[in-house]
Amino acid sequence: MNIMLIGGGGREHAILRSLKKNPTVETVWMLPGNGAMESEAICTGIGATDLDGIAQFAKEHPVDYAVVAPDDPLVLGCVDRLNELGIPCFGPKANAAIIEGSKAFSKDLMKKYGIPTAKYEIFTELPKALEYLKTAPIPTVVKADGLALGKGVIIAQTREEAVEAVTDMMANAKFGKSGTTVVIEEFLEGPEVSVLSFTDGKTVKPMVSSMDHKRAKDNDQGLNTGGMGTIAPNPYYTDAVAERCMQEIFLPTIAAMAAEGRPFQGCLYFGLMITKDGPKVIEYNCRFGDPETQVVLPLLESDLLTVMQSCTNGTLADTEVKFADKHACCVITASEGYPEAYKKGYPLVMTEEAAACTYVAGAKVADGVLVTNGGRVTGTTAIAASLPEAIKEAYRLADGVQFENAYRRSDIGQRALQALK
Ligand code: AMP
Ligand code: GLY
Repeated sequence: MNIMLIGGGGREHAILRSLKKNPTVETVWMLPGNGAMESEAICTGIGATDLDGIAQFAKEHPVDYAVVAPDDPLVLGCVDRLNELGIPCFGPKANAAIIEGSKAFSKDLMKKYGIPTAKYEIFTELPKALEYLKTAPIPTVVKADGLALGKGVIIAQTREEAVEAVTDMMANAKFGKSGTTVVIEEFLEGPEVSVLSFTDGKTVKPMVSSMDHKRAKDNDQGLNTGGMGTIAPNPYYTDAVAERCMQEIFLPTIAAMAAEGRPFQGCLYFGLMITKDGPKVIEYNCRFGDPETQVVLPLLESDLLTVMQSCTNGTLADTEVKFADKHACCVITASEGYPEAYKKGYPLVMTEEAAACTYVAGAKVADGVLVTNGGRVTGTTAIAASLPEAIKEAYRLADGVQFENAYRRSDIGQRALQALK
């Protein structure tokens, strides 16, 4: 079995290692991959959004299966392109990836099908948005409609901040085309839970729940990032909450997408908030989360490739998806300054022990040396029988990852520990 894996970050490194546990996997081509993965896969350097380059590569190589991991190629129709070439893929087609690609689409879907989410209004004209903000309840949440690298969400604590955010998006094109339509929505409160799920368009099987740490600094201070660390399972996701999510959110969402003629196959990520009125959807992602994947897949006991293929061929109902009854913690080591300006090009050194459980997101080989090449550089994951042990071990192992200007949060998992008390 020869596999093409689109993407080149920490999430893809985790997917690569899980796929390779299957003994039938021979070659894995990464598009692009990164320098740290070169001993584990063939890194092609072809960009994840270069659909022509990806299609050309697929024509020239004996590809049996493709996994498209990042949001942008999915939204651009990478799966559709590869399917046209006869290559089965894990991941939604463009008409289903829109569930992440357009927040206006996903909000209207939830409204139409009664799926719990924050109340909202959609605007395509700045004056109307500004008029609405004169009386909108504060705090309020302003979201760019399209993909914006996780930065298109502004929690406005004052009316002035909300006006500034809307103006930046709609008049100053801060997020380019992604912000010409904005969603303004109700501010919700409660703990957040990420639930990734496998789905073949009919059946949905949630993975173990997780908790992201989105802010750059300790105690949830600083700017929003792609995620500075994760733990799994999430203690707020009790059996009772899980059951409500299944009945009120997961099953209705899969049915809604099918009813709209947009069956979703792949990994559907539910970003949830557990409010006092029950679980509500904060966002959908059409893909595995990063760094949620780095704690979820190491806990997967079933064979990842088998489960992925069952999503592609519609047999997920008959396929076991089993997770270990353990705890995982992933600590991101970033370049100082991320998510704003940071320096790169520093030698990245890892102990053998650390490298074995570290997923590399931002690195390349320059003059034969592995050097940093991104904001988030590595994610180090430990698994243990309890959450406190997993946290302690993840930090011990992360100390084996070294480069100049390295930065980590020191409190990954602490909020979850408080919840357990
Ligand atoms: P998103 O990119 O949609 O995941 O949003 C980024 C973060 O903004 C989420 O993880 C939440 O912490 C926060 N957020 C998004 N929408 C809301 C909302 N309606 N109320 C409160 N917080 C929100
Ligand atoms: N860690 C959040 C995301 O992948 O969207």
